[in-house]
Amino acid sequence: MTDVQQDGRVALVTGGSRGIGAAVSRLLAARGMRVAVNYRSSQDEAEAVVASIESAGGRALAVRADVRDESAVRAMVEQVRDALGEVEVLVHNALIPYAITSFEDLSWDELGGKLEQEMRAAFLVTKAVVPGMTAAGYGRIVFLGTVLSRIPRERMITLGTSKAALSQFARYVAQELGPRGITVNVVSPGPVDDTSHAHLFSQEHKQRQAALTALGRIASPDDVARAVAFYAGDDSGFITGTTAPVNGGMAMD
Ligand SMILES: NC(=O)c1ccc[n+]([C@@H]2O[C@H](COP(=O)([O-])OP(=O)(O)OC[C@H]3O[C@@H](n4cnc5c(N)ncnc54)[C@H](OP(=O)(O)O)[C@@H]3O)[C@@H](O)[C@H]2O)c1
Repeated sequence: MTDVQQDGRVALVTGGSRGIGAAVSRLLAARGMRVAVNYRSSQDEAEAVVASIESAGGRALAVRADVRDESAVRAMVEQVRDALGEVEVLVHNALIPYAITSFEDLSWDELGGKLEQEMRAAFLVTKAVVPGMTAAGYGRIVFLGTVLSRIPRERMITLGTSKAALSQFARYVAQELGPRGITVNVVSPGPVDDTSHAHLFSQEHKQRQAALTALGRIASPDDVARAVAFYAGDDSGFITGTTAPVNGGMAMD
């Protein structure tokens, strides 16, 4: 057995400094992975996630990069390779900012800008890790989508439309990379508490959203992290090109 297998796989979580990404980072580390916690500006929060992983006996590293910046993404993957090993698991979770607006008030810059940045980030991080995964004959790629790609909600047109593009991108990449032992899947949450998005809404709004679920509550970041961990691990090895709806039954297939 090599050191890599003894120490667990190397995971890169984009936007790992808070919200869903922090919960994913902690859970993957608890399951034995060495985790690179990416952030753009919130260094203290990323370092706190790393500290909590290390105090629980895990191994982690905070890595700064704006995932929309090609050279920064390349440098980040090299930094992770040098410090922890080749990235075998990519969880692309970073939340690219977006406008909350009606179609009536929407400008092309708002829609086109979100589409461009969402896809640029997904493209760059995927491009950066695929050569290493290909060489290893193993890879797990998990993208964070949203229920809003399938179920329109008032004023969420930029996020829902751009994440719909991301979901189809995931299927194309899954098809092409499958023969290399790389799986690509999407975890698609409904509203998630304790995130920057959740902080925009009142308690009453959250209660109305909870009432739309079969399970009677909205998700926690840990609910989402558990679905991500399934796709990031070996138990999902024969599942690719799929979307896991983590919405408590808010939208059923
Ligand atoms: N929250 C929800 O209700 C919900 C529902 C469905 C889907 N999702 C999806 O889940 C993912 C995570 O959302 P969240 O709500 O947990 O987000 P969040 O709490 O706002 O955290 C966003 C994370 O992304 C990082 N980030 C933002 N821009 C970045 C960039 N350009 N480069 C690198 N890192 C960047 C942030 O770090 P910095 O602070 O350093 O920028 C932070 O770590 C997103 O893809 C989102 O669309 C969320």
